[in-house]
Amino acid sequence: MNSNDTVFTEQLLPCGKTIPNRLVKVAMYEHLSSILGGPPNDFHYELYSAWSKHDWGMIMTGNVQVSKQHLTLGRDMVVPKVLTNQTIQPFQQLAQVIHGDQHSHSLAIMQLSHAGRQSSNILGGRLPFVSPLGPSAVRFGHSKRNEGVISNIFHRLLFQTPKAMSSADIDNVVSEFVRGASLALQSGFDGVQLHVAHGSQFLSPKSNTRTDEYSYHSLLLLSRIVNAIREVVPRDFVLGIKFNTSDYSLFEESEAKVAQEERALTHLRQVASWRTVDFIEISGGDYENPEFMLSSSSATSAKNPRQAFFAHFSSKLMKELSSVTSSDQCAPLILLTGGLRSPAHLYTALRNENAHLLGIGRASVLCPNLPTVLKRRRAAEADLSSDVTPFKPEPDLRFWPSGREPWRCIRRFFPKVKLIGAGVGMAWYVVMIRRLAKEHIRRPDYSIGGLGAMTKMWVWIDAPELQQTKAIYVLILGLVWYLYLGSSMLFDSY
Ligand SMILES: Cc1cc2nc3c(=O)[nH]c(=O)nc-3n(C[C@H](O)[C@H](O)[C@H](O)COP(=O)(O)O)c2cc1C
Repeated sequence: MNSNDTVFTEQLLPCGKTIPNRLVKVAMYEHLSSILGGPPNDFHYELYSAWSKHDWGMIMTGNVQVSKQHLTLGRDMVVPKVLTNQTIQPFQQLAQVIHGDQHSHSLAIMQLSHAGRQSSNILGGRLPFVSPLGPSAVRFGHSKRNEGVISNIFHRLLFQTPKAMSSADIDNVVSEFVRGASLALQSGFDGVQLHVAHGSQFLSPKSNTRTDEYSYHSLLLLSRIVNAIREVVPRDFVLGIKFNTSDYSLFEESEAKVAQEERALTHLRQVASWRTVDFIEISGGDYENPEFMLSSSSATSAKNPRQAFFAHFSSKLMKELSSVTSSDQCAPLILLTGGLRSPAHLYTALRNENAHLLGIGRASVLCPNLPTVLKRRRAAEADLSSDVTPFKPEPDLRFWPSGREPWRCIRRFFPKVKLIGAGVGMAWYVVMIRRLAKEHIRRPDYSIGGLGAMTKMWVWIDAPELQQTKAIYVLILGLVWYLYLGSSMLFDSY
C-alpha cells in the first residue's frame, strides 16, 4: 500500500489517544437486546466480531440508552441502573470483542443516548399513557400535522406528547449520562459519543420551546453533560458528539439557509472552544425528516454522486475550526457520515478537506470487511478517487412490491409517510445486522423487500427473551388458542 495513503494514516485525538486510520464504523441500533432493553448478549458479540476483524479505526456501538424508560424501538442496549461487577460484565465482554486480538487497535466507542420525545409508545419502555420526558410538551410528529390524516394518526399512535422536563429531571438526565460514561470507562471502552443528532431535542427549535435558560442557551444541557463526564473520566478518555446540521432549518421559516448554517457553525465553534470534545460527527435530519437515511440515488447525492450528504457543511466547519484553532492540539476532529459508499467518496472527501474521519453506517453492514476491501482495491489501482464502484450495491427498498396490480392500487391510496420510508430502510438493515450476528452471513439478501424486512424485523422467533423463557411461547400459544375457542363459540351462538 502507498505510504502516503490518506485513509490509512493515524489520527491523533485531542485527548491523546490515536486512531489507527480514518475509517469509522458509526453507531447503528442493532435491535438485538431483549424486548424492552437490556445488556449486550451473544448476538452483539458475534456481530461486533464481524467488524473487529477488519481494521476499522474506530468502532461505535449502536445507541446505548441512559434511561430504560426512553428506548427507541425496544431492543436497545441500556445502561444499568446500578453499576456492579455483574451488570458491567456484558459490556466488558463487548469492549473486548471490539478490541479483538489487538492486532488492529480499533478504538471502541459507546454511543450514549436519551431518546426523549422520540421514544415510542410502549416499546419505549413505559406503560401505556405514560409520557416520555422532553424539553417541552411538543409531540413528535407535531410539525407533520399538515401531511394528511393518515400521517397524523400514525404519529399520534406511535408517539405521545412528552412532559416538559423540570430542572430536577434535567439534573437526573445529566447524572444518567455520567453513569453511562462510567459504565463505558469501567468496562474498557476507549470513550463515548453523545448522540445529539436526529432530533437532538434541546438544540432544536422544533422541540425546545422553553422560556428558561435552556432555551436561550440551547447548548447548556450538552455543556453540563460534557463537563460532568470530564470530571469522572481520565484525560485520555475519548469524548465525541454526533451533531445535527438540520436542527437549524426551522429556526425561522423565512430565514435564509446561509443564516441557518451560520447558527449551526456558531454552536460548533462554541463546542470546539470548550476544548473538551475530541471529535464532532456531522449528520442531519431526524425521524420526522430522516435525511440521514437517504440512499445514494436520492436528492442531495444525485447532483453530485461523489458528494457525501453533509459534506458541504462539514467542509465549512473544517475551514472555520482551522482558522480559529490553527495549530491547537485541542481542536476536535471532524467525522463526516452519510452517503460514503465507494472509494471515490472517501478519497474525494479527504482531498476536498471535508473531514478528518470518515463515518460509514449502512455500507459497514453490507460490507463489514470494508477496510480490507479498500486495501485490496488500493493495491490494484493507483487512483481510488475515481473508483465510484460501491463497496456493495444498495438494496431497492420500496415498501410495496413494485409493478403488480393490487399493490399499485394500494400504493395510490396510501399516503407517503416519511417515517415509514425511514422505518423500511432501517428494518432492512436491522435484518441484515441480525444475519451477520447469527450466522456471520456477509452476503446481503437483496431478495427481501421493504414489507418483508418490516415483518422479519418484528417477528424474531429466536429473540433473546424467547430463548431465556420458553414459557412465553406457551403463553402466546395459549392466548391464540383461547382467542380461537372464544371466536368459535361466538360464531356457534348465531
Ligand atoms: C439500522 C440503522 C440504525 C441506526 N442507528 C443509529 C444509532 O443508534 N445512532 C445514531 O447516531 N445513528 C444511527 N443510524 C444512522 C447512522 O449512524 C448514519 O448516520 C446513517 O446511516 C447515514 O450514514 P450512511 O449513509 O453511511 O448509512 C442508524 C442507521 C441505520 C441504517
